[in-house]
Amino acid sequence: MQNLSARTAGFTDSVIRRMTRISLQYNAINLSQGFPDFDPPAAISTRLAEIAGSGPHQYAITWGAQNFREALAQKQRTFTGLPIDPDKEIVVTCGSTEAMMVAMLTVSNPGDKVIVFSPFYENYSADAILAGAEPIYVPLNPPEFRFDPDVLEAAFKQHPKALILCNPSNPCGRVFSRAELDIIAVYAKKYDTYIITDEVYEHIVYTPHTHTYFATLPGMFERTISCSSLSKSYSITGWRLGYIIAPERIVETAKKVHDFLTVGAAAPLQEAAIIGLHFPSSYYYDLANVYTEKRNLFIKGLSDAGIPHIIPEGAYYVLADISEYHYESDVQFCEDLARNIGVAAVPGSSFFKTPVNHLIRFHFAKKNETLIEALNRLDLMKKLKHF
Ligand SMILES: Cc1ncc(COP(=O)(O)O)c(C=O)c1O
Repeated sequence: MQNLSARTAGFTDSVIRRMTRISLQYNAINLSQGFPDFDPPAAISTRLAEIAGSGPHQYAITWGAQNFREALAQKQRTFTGLPIDPDKEIVVTCGSTEAMMVAMLTVSNPGDKVIVFSPFYENYSADAILAGAEPIYVPLNPPEFRFDPDVLEAAFKQHPKALILCNPSNPCGRVFSRAELDIIAVYAKKYDTYIITDEVYEHIVYTPHTHTYFATLPGMFERTISCSSLSKSYSITGWRLGYIIAPERIVETAKKVHDFLTVGAAAPLQEAAIIGLHFPSSYYYDLANVYTEKRNLFIKGLSDAGIPHIIPEGAYYVLADISEYHYESDVQFCEDLARNIGVAAVPGSSFFKTPVNHLIRFHFAKKNETLIEALNRLDLMKKLKHF
């Protein structure tokens, strides 16, 4: 038989999703794949139950149900101050995952270069491969995970078509400052580059940090494809509701790419989520507070257990340093951690371009009691030195 596509030959399966399977195998507490173990807001699930009876059950408009786009435009206008047009500047997608892929396919041709900060969320390299684009990796340098402006400009000098900006950032927890974003904006204009943002953690930011929407920077809306989703903001990762916000010129093409990829996001789920898009701003304030408490609980627990870690500024991940265990493979470390300690984490190597084997990533989007149980188990992590 003929070979399968060369495009997919270099693919491994997602390390994050693989860790979830390993976690299930060993009945471990799954702090690998980032999704909550608590319920979405009751108003949203109640609305879903109503819609089971009333519908809609058929296709929505391919680029998003009218009432969903209107509610989303209103919400994002409040947070960004941008006059977003629900008819011309939004595409509703199956999660930010599809939004990012659509964005890549909308702007890039095979052979085009795309700047990706490293460490990065693992989908970005797969998106680049599927689009035939070539990533230029620019390091975010530990321990603060900041980029060197000269290194970034050297990447821009290679004439990339786009830069992917994950802000707040998974896995390193950075919330880029206005000054950092201004540097990116200067280069984007100077080298005529699109910016594709992934802002799924826009509402999970820890004081004193604040989220700046890249599209709000002077002159940047016209070259920014803002991708985000409802997954993290409303604890509905399984609903697969995401979106692109961009100027009409870009959205016109993105609508077609999205239509041919998936036709559309689930109509009943769009209808049910509208109530969430109308939540008052206090909802987002409370959400940030809930995650602040979880972050503080978890990082204190790690510190108490003597596990060195970063302090996230946003998103719900912590990178922990496992250098002292002298494992050659962080993948093996994570397997041992799941099997022998009962906590699943993601090997840091899956996020970095450069060889890294001393970091693992935990997420803390879990009930406090789940986190406390995980921390009790992690207290025994030192045992891994003896396996
Ligand atoms: C940075 C980032 N982008 C996108 C996603 C996936 O988002 P969605 O559920 O909207 O596809 C995740 C999920 O963990 C993520 O961490």
